[in-house]
Amino acid sequence: MQDFHYQNGTKIIFGRETEASVGQELKKYTNKVLLHYGGGSIKKTGLYDKVMHSLHEAGIEVFELGGVKPNPRLSLVRKGINLCQEQEIPFILAVGGGSVIDSAKAIAAGVHYEGDVWDLFCGVAVEHECLPLATILTIPAAGSETSSGTVVTNDEIGLKRSFGHESLRPVFSILNPELTFTLPTYQTACGIADMLAHVLERYFTNERHVDITDRLCEATMKSIIDNGLRVMNDPFNYDIRAELMLAGMIAHNGSLDMGRIGDWASHDIEHELSGMYDIAHGAGLAIIFPAWMKYVYHHDVNRFAQFGSRVFNLEINLNHPEETALLAIEKLESFFKALGLPTSFSDADLPTDHIEELAQKLVCDCDSVGNYVPIKEADALEIYRLAL
Ligand code: NZQ
Ligand code: ZN
Repeated sequence: MQDFHYQNGTKIIFGRETEASVGQELKKYTNKVLLHYGGGSIKKTGLYDKVMHSLHEAGIEVFELGGVKPNPRLSLVRKGINLCQEQEIPFILAVGGGSVIDSAKAIAAGVHYEGDVWDLFCGVAVEHECLPLATILTIPAAGSETSSGTVVTNDEIGLKRSFGHESLRPVFSILNPELTFTLPTYQTACGIADMLAHVLERYFTNERHVDITDRLCEATMKSIIDNGLRVMNDPFNYDIRAELMLAGMIAHNGSLDMGRIGDWASHDIEHELSGMYDIAHGAGLAIIFPAWMKYVYHHDVNRFAQFGSRVFNLEINLNHPEETALLAIEKLESFFKALGLPTSFSDADLPTDHIEELAQKLVCDCDSVGNYVPIKEADALEIYRLAL
């Protein structure tokens, strides 16, 4: 097991109608806020009015910036940075999904940075102050409500890149499972694929003696799969929605990382898909993850067989563990299909003649991606081929 430090300071306020407390909670930190949101779902569902009411009651001055698109764009981030600088706004409240929260984090990171905010996403590491932020989550998926990361698309060059800093973990996040009742089925499914992928990225590690975190990962994956299938037929069931909201947070709050080094190649390989074709991140992962698994399972067949046995209850074929490994990959693919997600380029109607460009872009600023098995350009090309 690796040595590690673990600290996650995000306060979680979880449960029914918790969004009504946002004004009182925020007042502990600020009396002036930028309210950041997406393409309008919060106005349709009535959440916007509730949040505004709570903020006004608490006497908080509110500036607004809506219009965040899924796969959040750098151009809107720049607008948000200007607004915060001009109006001297000291705090951001993100109300929405991972895209809104990530856009808020990028603004928070850019306000006191003297250069162009994209520098931060290109690996220019600079220690500087980020604005504090809080969130009201409306879709369990990205885990950005407690994570230190943000992922943004540079709309001028079609590149999607991430940036992480401990100070970007939200001060508090409000999680009311009722707010997820209005999600379209497809978005619910994308969120489930994303949270499952966050656990899988951590599960496939070269680290030995990580039994506790292996089993925490396996339990989390089993719960995501069980509740993921149930929510498809029972979308207004509070308890199922609550399990998924908690799972999405646990999958990415860093607790499953303790003592191990995760992989993350599939996320990087997917980011090229959502950067180029604007596909939902979770759908992209349902296409890429099984293909990555088929490409790398030989690296440690027994870990894949363990995954099949403990998560999908497969009996391990001791003489031919690769059979169990392959069956486990099939099971994962069938799960994504059962959620109605694409598992190939053709399922998602993505062009199949640009995979060389995708593979080139993936390593345009590094030699390889991933830790479990380093993936170079030629490997990525094979993974994209397996996903066609
Ligand atoms: O924009 P609005 O109108 O709000 O609609 C959104 C959007 O169209 C809609 N939606 C959200 N909550 C809803 C709702 N519609 C009805 N009722 C609700 N309650 O759902 C659509 C998708 O929203 P989005 O925020 O894009 O979804 P998600 O949370 O899956 O976020 C995806 C983004 O997160 C990044 C991904 O790359 C992607 O850009 N990630 C961020 C991570 C992080 N910061 O730690 C880690 C992840 O691996 C991921 O990469
Ligand atoms: Zn993800």
